[in-house]
Amino acid sequence: MRERLSSRLGFLMLAAGSAVGLGNVWRFPYIVGQNGGAAFVVVYLAFLAVIGFPLLAVELGIGRGANRSLAAALKELAPPRAAKWWGRIGVVLASGCFVLMIYYTDVAGWILKYTTDYARAAPPSDPSGAFGALVGDWRTTAAFMLAAVAAASLVCLAGVVKGVERVTKFMMVSLLALLGVLAVRTVTLPGAEGGLAFYLKPDWTRFMAHPWQSVFDAMGQAFFTLSLGIGSMTICGSYVGMEHSLVKETAVIIAIDTVVAILAGLVVFPACSAYGVAYTEGPGLIFSTLPMVFSQMAGGTFWGFLFFLFLAFAALTTVIAVFECLIAGLMDITGIRRATATVLVGAGVAALSMPCVLFNGVLTWEDFAVSKVWLPLGALAQGAFVTFGGIGWGWESFRSSVSAGRGFGMPRWMKWHYAVTIPVLVLIVFFAGIL
Ligand code: ALA
Repeated sequence: MRERLSSRLGFLMLAAGSAVGLGNVWRFPYIVGQNGGAAFVVVYLAFLAVIGFPLLAVELGIGRGANRSLAAALKELAPPRAAKWWGRIGVVLASGCFVLMIYYTDVAGWILKYTTDYARAAPPSDPSGAFGALVGDWRTTAAFMLAAVAAASLVCLAGVVKGVERVTKFMMVSLLALLGVLAVRTVTLPGAEGGLAFYLKPDWTRFMAHPWQSVFDAMGQAFFTLSLGIGSMTICGSYVGMEHSLVKETAVIIAIDTVVAILAGLVVFPACSAYGVAYTEGPGLIFSTLPMVFSQMAGGTFWGFLFFLFLAFAALTTVIAVFECLIAGLMDITGIRRATATVLVGAGVAALSMPCVLFNGVLTWEDFAVSKVWLPLGALAQGAFVTFGGIGWGWESFRSSVSAGRGFGMPRWMKWHYAVTIPVLVLIVFFAGIL
């Protein structure tokens, strides 16, 4: 008998924890910084509503419809003549979770290293030099990557309710509290106004400096933050009962994910403007620019510790949820026990994370493969699966399944959105990403 999450809160925190991660706290602020601020945020929110919302409902719906992880669920819900093919497609899509983990755990390791440095009251004295030195020191990065892998493996080993649900709930609630405290601290810093205006007052001339790039970045960010298309949300759906409509739950999960991303920006931009450091730093924004801010702030080591602890929770909730997806997927397909699956996934991720630890540039390629190829194509395949009954689950079966339970359901007319608007937009992201 498959385990079920013990509460609605547990489900929402697991799914939101899977969504809330480096995408919100690392990628979102630096992409907003590079794309001109508030106007970009408006476009990003529009993509969340138009693509993110319907596709997240699909991921969760497939999981709950079959009570299985992605590959097994596609196989079970497909018409018999197409079942074998959908099973294979599911394995390819879910392997995107594996590729995500073999660079994500590396970045999670950097965050754990910063968290322990601030906890020991030994923050980097030369922030940008220290980040370069860390990335070049493979022994340290490997040790912290292994710590992230070991932590997620142990949590998953303890089971769905006793491990994954319990730990994720604790980390998500702590993360939200920490984020609230940090945001109050930074928006009240003298000189915060410049950062607040950049972040909250749309300036379309800045957006129009490179509009297409910004539009594609906004679409890509919507896919990444919800990890659509690779089954890491399907697994959350597979552990939940029929009490609440999944359309309603999708709205709640996206709301939590968005609040975290918006608040992360409220921490970063006012802090940068108060201490006169640039927002446009790119991927190093969190690791080299912000430590510069903490080094100048009164009580900066304490605030830096809280900030990196918050980042560590965000990264670890995603690693745990994606590990659970890989472990349960392996159990569903092969019938092996949880302990065996956990060892295989942990060892596999640890071994294949080494290229990323050892060689510069591997991370960029793996991130490209996941965010520009796996996520959009995976989401497109899942969208087709729930829309067309001849080849997949079919619209009416999907619609009645996600709508079951308390709360609002999926309107009938959304079929056209799934059949036309979403594929067109997703293919644009895909080709733009490739080009
Ligand atoms: N959704 C995950 C994140 O935002 C991948 O980090």
